[in-house]
Amino acid sequence: MSVTERDPISGYLTTGHDWNGIKELNSPVPRIVLWFLAVTHIYAVIAWLLFPTWPLGNTYTKGLLGGDQQDAVAADLAAAATARASWMAALATQDFDTIRENPDLMARAKATAAPLFGQNCQVCHGADGTGGPGFPRLSDDIWLWGGTAEEIETTLRYGINSPHPDTRFAQMPPFGRDGLLTRAEIAVVTDYVLTLANGVIPDDPAEGAVLFQTNCAGCHGADARGLEGTGAPDLTDADWLYGGAPTTIRQILLNGRQGVMPAWQGRLSDAEIRMMALYVEGLSVDGAGDAP
Ligand code: HEC
Ligand code: HEC
Repeated sequence: MSVTERDPISGYLTTGHDWNGIKELNSPVPRIVLWFLAVTHIYAVIAWLLFPTWPLGNTYTKGLLGGDQQDAVAADLAAAATARASWMAALATQDFDTIRENPDLMARAKATAAPLFGQNCQVCHGADGTGGPGFPRLSDDIWLWGGTAEEIETTLRYGINSPHPDTRFAQMPPFGRDGLLTRAEIAVVTDYVLTLANGVIPDDPAEGAVLFQTNCAGCHGADARGLEGTGAPDLTDADWLYGGAPTTIRQILLNGRQGVMPAWQGRLSDAEIRMMALYVEGLSVDGAGDAP
C-alpha cells in the first residue's frame, strides 16, 4: 500500500503503516547516530594500523606501535619470579631469628602462608587454626610438641605418627582393649581424670591417684601436665583434644588414641614449610584465638 501522507504536526511523511489509528513517521536517522558510526569506523581503521589485529594463519598483523601483551605479561612474570626466588631462598636458608627481624620478609611469608594454610591445613585444623575434636587448635598457646617456629617446623616436616622415618611418635595406649586395666579400674581412672583440673597430689593415697601414677604419669607427667617429647596432652586444663565428656575419656582409656598429622616434607617446599611454621607460630602470638 503506498499512500503518501504528511503528518500535520511534525511535517514528516508517514510510512503508511497504521496500527489502530497510530501512524509511524518516516523520520530520518538522527545525525548524532550517523556521527557516532562514522567516528567508530574511523577509530577501527586507525586501531587496525596501530595495534595487533588480524590473524594471518600462524601469525597476525603486528600494528605500527609493535605493542605485544604477551611479551609484556611474560616480562612481568619473569620479574615477579626473580623477586620471589630471592625472598623464598631467604626463607629457606636464614635462621628464624634473622627472618623475624626482617619485617618485609615476615609480611611476605605470612601473606603467602595464609592461602597455603587454607589449601592444606584448614580441612583438619579449621579456618584460622581453631581446631576441632581430634585436631588440635593451633591458635592457642597449648602445644603437644611446642609452639616455636623451630618446633613447629619439625612437626610439619615429619608429621606425627606419619609414615615418615623421622616422624614424631605419640600413642595413647588402649588400656582396656590390651587388658592393662580392668573395666572397674578404667571407671575409677575416668573419674580421677575428671577431677584433675583441681590439681594432682602425687602421694594421694586414693585409688584413682595411685592408678594414675602407676599407669599414666610416665607420659602425662606426675603432675598430669604432659611430658615434653611424648605428645601426651596436659590433663589439668579445660582444653581437650578429644573432649572432656566422661564417655569420651572412657572410650580413650578403653581403645587408645593415635592421631595422625601428615608429613609435609616433599609436598611443600622448604621455604613453604618454614613460612607455614612462622604463620602457625603467629596464630597464637597474634591472639587469633585465646586459650580457654
Ligand atoms: C589430615 C588431617 C591434618 C592435616 C591436613 C593437617 N594436620 Fe596438623 N595435625 C593433625 C592431627 C590429628 C594432629 C594431632 C596429632 C596428635 O594427635 O598428636 C596435628 C598436629 C599438628 C601440630 C602440632 C600441634 C601441637 O600441639 O604441637 C601442628 C603445628 C600442625 N598440626 C600444623 C599443621 C599444618 C600447618 C598443616 C598444613 C600444612 C596441618 N597441620 C595439616 C591433622 C592434620
Ligand atoms: C605411652 C604414653 C601414654 C600413657 C602411658 C598414657 N597416655 Fe594418655 N595420651 C597419650 C598421648 C600421646 C595422647 C594423645 C593421643 C593423640 O594425640 O591422639 C593421650 C591422650 C589422653 C587423653 C585425651 C586427652 C584430650 O585432651 O582429649 C586422656 C584423657 C588420657 N590420655 C588419659 C590417660 C590416662 C588416664 C592414662 C593412664 C591410665 C594415660 N592417658 C596413659 C599418651 C599416653
